[in-house]
Amino acid sequence: MTKTAVIKTHSLCKSFVLGKTGLHVLKNLDIEIYEGDFTVIMGSSGSGKSTLLYALSSMDGVTGGSVEVLGRDITAMRPKDLETLRKRDIAFVFQSVNLLPDLTAFENVAYCGYNGGEAKKRVNDRTRALLERFGLSADADKYPSELSGGQQQRIAIARALINNAKVIFADEPTGALNSAMGLQILDTLTALNDAGQSIVMVTHDMKAACRANRLLYLKDGRIVGDLPLGKYEKNDAEREDKIFRYLRDNQW
Ligand SMILES: Nc1ncnc2c1ncn2[C@@H]1O[C@H](COP(=O)(O)OP(=O)(O)OP(=O)(O)O)[C@@H](O)[C@H]1O
Ligand SMILES: [Mg+2]
Repeated sequence: MTKTAVIKTHSLCKSFVLGKTGLHVLKNLDIEIYEGDFTVIMGSSGSGKSTLLYALSSMDGVTGGSVEVLGRDITAMRPKDLETLRKRDIAFVFQSVNLLPDLTAFENVAYCGYNGGEAKKRVNDRTRALLERFGLSADADKYPSELSGGQQQRIAIARALINNAKVIFADEPTGALNSAMGLQILDTLTALNDAGQSIVMVTHDMKAACRANRLLYLKDGRIVGDLPLGKYEKNDAEREDKIFRYLRDNQW
């Protein structure tokens, strides 16, 4: 069965200007991310993982090549169409939490829903349900500064889920959480993927990587590893071992 690509890049390059020189972070990447996949991106710190996720999700522009999201070249899209695509089809959980400080927990989640164009009542109902799912009902009226780092991250994830986006990007979504909460987030992402949403997640954590059915490894701005993992099954003891051996044997 041929898979449909939800994201496709052609010679994707991203550089930053640093003084008189340029820092070439992403180097001519040709990547396809497939519909319904749970794709994980690993790589050492500074290898360009966050930069790649930003480029794939239209959060940041590229300096060369192109990126297609759901069949449309986002590097050539009109700003208005890009905004609509971002609001409706893409969700992003950031590495740093990024909540709006002047909105309550409830408002931070619901705001993105209103922006996506859905009816207010439906958005409010969904917001309530999401906050409950993450054990945050009692914190709905609190501001980000009144919440712990873990609570803020859970709000950020609830916010990303409000619009039923087709592709969910997550940059180390479990990094700031204790292991029980991290597990809950992974279970949620797994359930969303089971329901058909495509997920692209950056992580350093082997337990998180085990949830993926495909692992991409980034080194110095190039994809050097592409490991198919098959669908995640609970209690698959060999999975973590397989990833560990793959990374070790390639000496990355
Ligand atoms: N806005 C920017 N301006 C200049 N350099 C940047 C910018 N963003 C990232 N970089 C540089 O690009 C390189 C890759 O950064 P990136 O944040 O993508 O790494 P990463 O793989 O996500 O690392 P980590 O695992 O620590 O999060 C680093 O050398 C970083 O300093
Ligand atoms: Mg990063």
